[in-house]
Amino acid sequence: MEWKELEEACAKCDRCSLCQRRTHLVFGDGNRQAKLMLVGEGPGEQEDLQGIPFVGPAGKLLDQMLAIIDLDRKDYYIANIVKCRPPQNRDPLAAEQEACIGWLREQVKLVRPKIILCLGRIAAQRLIDPSYRITREHGQWVQKGGIWMSAIYHPSALLRDESKRPETFDDLLSLRDKLREVQQEN
Ligand code: URA
Repeated sequence: MEWKELEEACAKCDRCSLCQRRTHLVFGDGNRQAKLMLVGEGPGEQEDLQGIPFVGPAGKLLDQMLAIIDLDRKDYYIANIVKCRPPQNRDPLAAEQEACIGWLREQVKLVRPKIILCLGRIAAQRLIDPSYRITREHGQWVQKGGIWMSAIYHPSALLRDESKRPETFDDLLSLRDKLREVQQEN
């Protein structure tokens, strides 16, 4: 599938009941040719209203954090595990993730990233390991299907608990190193 076909098909998605309450489906944003892909959990209120991932308070913090290592949206592609907002921002249910994950798989096939950074536990458990423990394993790198994968705390968690920010800063430096490594491969 090509981008246009994928985006048009996804826009009509009714694979789970989250579609019934959405203002906008939040497909993805950023550079479709990037080596780095970021994957969050699911849209929040602002994302649902605007149709763009990570534009609310968590997104603003994410932008600030990535700016520290000189990254902005032209440097990565960003999407979520589920494309429609769960009510009251609850965790997406396993069945909702299952229904939606095919869209993300197609996005990964088209972007062909060298690195996937999961934002938070939900994405890490879905993409890295179902038993992933974010507190213990954040910042560690594993390779799956030729793609380097890691996770950091979700920016919403960093808004709630600032004490986690120094560890995340270290993880971002590690991301910068990994990006340099894959850029040297070409
Ligand atoms: N949180 C997420 O996981 N994704 C978004 O797009 C916004 C907030």
